[in-house]
Amino acid sequence: MIQVENLYFSYSNKPFLENINFQVGKGEIFGFLGPSGAGKSTLQKILTGLITNYQGKALVNGTESRHHKDNFYENIGVDFEFPSLYEKLTAKQNMMFFGSLYAKKLRNLEELFELVGLSQDSDKKVSDYSKGMKSRLNFIKALLHDPDILFLDEPTSGLDPSNARDMKNIILNEKKRGKTIILTTHNMADATELCDRVAFITDGKVKALDTPHNLIMRKGAAKIQYTYYDGLEKSGECYLSKTGSDKVLSELLLNNRILSIHSSEPTLNDIFMEVTGRVLQ
Ligand SMILES: Nc1ncnc2c1ncn2[C@@H]1O[C@H](COP(=O)(O)OP(=O)(O)OP(=O)(O)O)[C@@H](O)[C@H]1O
Ligand SMILES: [Mg+2]
Repeated sequence: MIQVENLYFSYSNKPFLENINFQVGKGEIFGFLGPSGAGKSTLQKILTGLITNYQGKALVNGTESRHHKDNFYENIGVDFEFPSLYEKLTAKQNMMFFGSLYAKKLRNLEELFELVGLSQDSDKKVSDYSKGMKSRLNFIKALLHDPDILFLDEPTSGLDPSNARDMKNIILNEKKRGKTIILTTHNMADATELCDRVAFITDGKVKALDTPHNLIMRKGAAKIQYTYYDGLEKSGECYLSKTGSDKVLSELLLNNRILSIHSSEPTLNDIFMEVTGRVLQ
């Protein structure tokens, strides 16, 4: 559904996005992960046809994004980083207006409001909405015309844990319905849970690209930490794969001197730090 080759873009005379290459297949959730200012939203703007003066290839649903025609938007849905809604109109009027821009048959509005818990508030003016409500409304705006590809920029930011959970379930459900989803986030836990593959982006470059599982397995190794008594409480650690051959640990286990033991797998966050030298959370 998406094919990016040797993508280059600059806001000034200095290169910004450089040598970006990746592909996203149908039904996949693909994540852009990176710190603030890394270029995630810029990349989304290129793929959604908002920035056209890039070099290289950015094919979306078979169309080179810089050459898109108006019907390009019939099959992509975009949830921008910052909600773009008419404050003086009600939520429903907003959806009816934005929906009227598409030639396609729209999804059922009541169902969409229901999906994000806004049924009771659909006749309220957007100016009376809270930040999280605007964010949820902006999200269903992207689903209105049932597009094949969804671009979601920080869909869970600003949401409380319960609404964020609901949002993630909706995203997973859209994937089940066969949608292709490009997700931008700083949230490693969300990325690990939702994404089939992730690209680590820092300073306008892709530093790693794989499934969260492969990134974790390839770069990190699970460890165990233990404490034991030796006049006073002491601690030790070793790699999980080496527990059988760790002499200190074997001795402690044989003599029942272990006080506590637990294992820890590296998280995507640890791997991000290892690969990019930057901390995300
Ligand atoms: N229209 C613009 N003109 C000039 N520079 C811009 C413009 N838009 C963004 N930039 C710069 O490009 C860089 C990347 O911005 P971008 O919005 O892509 O980051 P991001 O990874 O989405 O960050 P965040 O996590 O904060 O949303 C920033 O340094 C920003 O100042
Ligand atoms: Mg951004």
